[in-house]
Amino acid sequence: MLVDFRPTGKLRGSKPVDVTAALGPVVDALAEDSVDLSRVRVVCDWVQYRSNFRDVVDIRPILAAHGHESVLAPVPLAAVVTEDEMEVAIDVRRSGDVPLKKLTAELIRARFGDTNPSRIHLEPWLPTSASVIWEFNALYWKALDLWEQATGRRYEQALPGGQSDARNRDAVREMISSLFVLWDSLVARNALPEELYVVELGVGNGGQAKTWLDEFIELDREHGKDYYRRLHYLMCDYSPHVLELARTAVADHEQHVSSFVLDATQPRTALGFLRYKIFLVYISNVYDNLPTDEVAQIGGRTYIVQTRAYLTREAAAEIGQLVAAPPDQVPELIRKLLRLGPALLAEAAPAHFPSIETAVDFWRRSWEALRLEEQYLPLAGLDLYQIAPTVSGEMLRPLLESGAAIRMHVNNGAVASFVDTVPLLHPYGRLVCHDLFVTDVHGYRTGFRGPGKYDGSIVNWVNGPLLAHIGRRKGFDVDYQRFARTGTNIVTMTAQVRD
Ligand SMILES: C[S@@+](CC[C@H](N)C(=O)[O-])C[C@H]1O[C@@H](n2cnc3c(N)ncnc32)[C@H](O)[C@@H]1O
Repeated sequence: MLVDFRPTGKLRGSKPVDVTAALGPVVDALAEDSVDLSRVRVVCDWVQYRSNFRDVVDIRPILAAHGHESVLAPVPLAAVVTEDEMEVAIDVRRSGDVPLKKLTAELIRARFGDTNPSRIHLEPWLPTSASVIWEFNALYWKALDLWEQATGRRYEQALPGGQSDARNRDAVREMISSLFVLWDSLVARNALPEELYVVELGVGNGGQAKTWLDEFIELDREHGKDYYRRLHYLMCDYSPHVLELARTAVADHEQHVSSFVLDATQPRTALGFLRYKIFLVYISNVYDNLPTDEVAQIGGRTYIVQTRAYLTREAAAEIGQLVAAPPDQVPELIRKLLRLGPALLAEAAPAHFPSIETAVDFWRRSWEALRLEEQYLPLAGLDLYQIAPTVSGEMLRPLLESGAAIRMHVNNGAVASFVDTVPLLHPYGRLVCHDLFVTDVHGYRTGFRGPGKYDGSIVNWVNGPLLAHIGRRKGFDVDYQRFARTGTNIVTMTAQVRD
């Protein structure tokens, strides 16, 4: 049996994790079952997100390689799993609060999850980037006002530090000053275009844009080159509601701001006309919110993590009671919610949702109760796996083969966004991105990197070495710097054409 204890930092300090208490009951439960213990992995994480998709203990089948037509098609579980290939995953932050042995034993007995009667599934097995959780995420940004009204909290309060680092004036001033240095040098060579384009992807409430534009005016006044007159700040987001909020926030800069509804994973669909023209693409707390798969290297084999969203029958019964529906009808109502949004849902199905408030309550409770089952599906070859439309899974190889077993994010959405954005940059332009980056691949072996829930949205750390590797292949230098403010995990990524 292999034990992979990832949060090694928690083994020391004033309150070290009690490994025996976390592992003992699990091993006891396994020993009392008939599983082949030599083919069990036990993985311990410290899941720092209080709101997340995991149970304290989860069982994950590790599927055998035979019996697959297509590596990504849903697989009939019993056909390929040999009973004794499995991963038992423990969240050691919470394992002391539950009857761990009993829970583990129950899960081992029900490990052929398709027949687990205590769960109601919302989807078949899928790579995580295709899970229904991303529809929840999109709905959150589309109907943010209703969610925030119900919770009485602003989304920024859920971000690390309670506020976006994109509002940090010192960091903004530094960014703008270096733009001025560049523009001055282009002026000196008579090479500065008349129009100065800056693009922001994923604008939220517009706080980031407002800080940037306010600082720009002030620095421009001091600098005396009247760059503000030539500035075009393009705000982009896939949520029309959020864009409207941001437009209001930057009303003082109306003449210099335009907004675009676009998917950050395909910026060229709307911004293609700006090829080679953008001096700054500015992104904060967005890459960690884009769909991602996870891949793993276990025992020399490569796997993609498949997930399947579910509610416990108990949770579905409680949620169903709220909307006069039996538990088995809850998934259908969730699909309706995701298609229509809470306001229209209340109009379309008044028998279940007498008011918008009931629909929002249904949404929030379903999201809170939502869990992900996981299994490992073997990848026949990395070249058969596509990270993004023009990026082959082969890019993952150096990271997957970097040493001991590893499980890491692919950040398909962030990679797609990155490779579709960099062609828009002016030859001296930059992409600047504040986010939760894993900057050393070993970081995946020592900590839990998501997914977690930030209110109604999803957070996954971003695979920095992967983006750097892909960037290098495309002729870009990608650099990571820890954000200046203390007490934040935010890192700033800068990408620019290699000298
Ligand atoms: C956490 S907020 C960050 C807002 C702001 N940049 C900040 O730092 O405060 C994430 C933003 O990304 C947007 N977003 C998420 N996924 C997106 C996508 N696929 N395309 C465009 N915008 C997206 C959301 O609508 C939201 O405005």
